[in-house]
Amino acid sequence: FAAEVAATPQMGFNNWNSTHCRAEFDEKMIRGVVDKFIEPGLKDAGYQYVNIDDCWAYWRRDKDGNLKANPKRFPGGIKAIADYVHSKGLKFGIYTSAGSFTCEPKKENRGFPGGLGHEKQDAALFASYGIDYLKYDNCNNEKKPAQPRYTAMGDALRATGRPIFYSVCEWGENQPWLWAGKREVGGNSWRTTGDITDTYASMVEIFKKNVVLDQYAGPGHWNDPDMLEVGNGGMTDTEYRSHFSLWAIMAAPLLIGTDLRTIKPEPLKILLNKDVIAIDQDPLGVQGKRIRDAGGVHVIVKPLQGGDRALAIFNETDAAKEATVSAAELGLDKAGKYAVRDLWQHDQREGDGSVRVTLAPHATALYRISAR
Ligand code: DGJ
Repeated sequence: FAAEVAATPQMGFNNWNSTHCRAEFDEKMIRGVVDKFIEPGLKDAGYQYVNIDDCWAYWRRDKDGNLKANPKRFPGGIKAIADYVHSKGLKFGIYTSAGSFTCEPKKENRGFPGGLGHEKQDAALFASYGIDYLKYDNCNNEKKPAQPRYTAMGDALRATGRPIFYSVCEWGENQPWLWAGKREVGGNSWRTTGDITDTYASMVEIFKKNVVLDQYAGPGHWNDPDMLEVGNGGMTDTEYRSHFSLWAIMAAPLLIGTDLRTIKPEPLKILLNKDVIAIDQDPLGVQGKRIRDAGGVHVIVKPLQGGDRALAIFNETDAAKEATVSAAELGLDKAGKYAVRDLWQHDQREGDGSVRVTLAPHATALYRISAR
């Protein structure tokens, strides 16, 4: 049980949302992304995992039954990439599926080999590469029950003796929040929904499914509403700030899903907002709770270590909205004095802790409220 690797939600990068299985997903790209962790300060901001997704593998196992890398994409092999990631003080993650094949490619109808029935061998191979993270997908599962499939890989990972973050990618089909975090499975996070796409509608739909599951998250085991789309171009910067704010207040994994070699300055600034990251990574490890959502204005409150609170107010609608959140609603002390810091505007006000704000369509205001 590798709970210590998941004391706070995982932060890092995964290529899927930007490349899917296109040819640009290769060793050169991953090395380039690794280099970008250092210079603009992503590593310093807490991003630590560099994870590769589906289509890294060759379509057949080798003569000993081991997975091997697609030689076109990864001519140097996986161990070399893992070593490069580690040489920068970062961690490396890999992907396979709890099925007979992974999800892609669908066209050729000749998928890449999955882990079902090969758990021990595959986990041992991954450990020999030095992996720190496994994302275990749900495709081609032959309709076998989910919990035993994910338990078998959990057991195999533990048997390697290496602490490996275990990301259960079951899409929320069998309520994984009820079982994936149990000791016998050992999942450190579980997907609560299907795949995100780079649209405002998709982001909001996923947010709504994930926000009601707050009671199941905690240190060592997190709800996973899928990876970030920030920077991929399908949403406005306002919408990307909402996406990042909502993921942070839901204590969600912060896995960057855009090509860091070509990211624009504004989305990069969003990903680097340390005050927002601190809400996600707060050591108390509580997922924010939605206290109301009337009229498409969602109010979410997250208790933080030391008594602070985070407050997100998200205007889902297409019209500007006025919103007020009272000190009583926030559970604040009537006689207390509070500092209310706006984590996007970077300004601070003192008062009774209540908040009044005008929100542009699709915008989120995010605050940290501290007793004075
Ligand atoms: C489905 C998963 O939910 C996605 O995140 C991605 O890993 C793809 N499969 C890869 O085929």
